[in-house]
Amino acid sequence: MSADMRELKIEAARAALDQVEDGMRLGIGTGSTAEEFVRVLAERVAGGLTVIGVPTSERTAALCLELGVPLTTLDETPELDLTIDGADEIGPQLGLIKGGGGALLREKIVAAASRRMIVIADKSKLVETLGRFPLPIEVNSFGLGATVRTIERTARALGLEGALKVRERDGRPFVTDGGHLIVDASFGRIPDPRALANALNAIPGVVEHGLFLDLADTAFVAGDGEVRTFGA
Ligand code: 5RP
Repeated sequence: MSADMRELKIEAARAALDQVEDGMRLGIGTGSTAEEFVRVLAERVAGGLTVIGVPTSERTAALCLELGVPLTTLDETPELDLTIDGADEIGPQLGLIKGGGGALLREKIVAAASRRMIVIADKSKLVETLGRFPLPIEVNSFGLGATVRTIERTARALGLEGALKVRERDGRPFVTDGGHLIVDASFGRIPDPRALANALNAIPGVVEHGLFLDLADTAFVAGDGEVRTFGA
């Protein structure tokens, strides 16, 4: 990642940090932008800010522990004030594609448990229509072949076609924190994300998908010397 790109992520993270108040219960996202947020948050925690966070991945949990950000779980703290997370794409009405880091299931559970979700990103994530980034779909490993065929058939019925690939890392299937697999679906433009989300939700082998609709209320997007605010 270039130094400029990292700076944009830090700028967006700082804008989100301004929304954090003492005593807040936070959902803490996953990915390189969310990690910049953890770093700026940790500085404020070291300076006396009192917050508690639910991490959306083991990776984020490890960074929080390393930097001294206090953690809890959704079992102990089932209602959160604010979740701050990155995104792979930010589309109209703050519809998102997430899951590039493979954490979409926990990210969605945590966002749904939060009163607010703020997305932080650099401007490369803004799109007019979702779908340039392959849609991550978390699936149970049981019946993988059948589930992939059902996803293909379901998408085709909505006019969507494209390669579906089981994600790999180091030549082996990528396994999520929840023990599932990820299928990356290169559908291209998704004109009706809600119809696709509903259809994917109805497939038994699909655990969750990376379409985040009606979850984010604000996005801070850094680029061209400013941080733009979208939404509330
Ligand atoms: C992880 C995610 C990330 O938020 C998304 O992939 C963006 O990551 P980055 O900030 O590194 O671009 O959804 O599952």
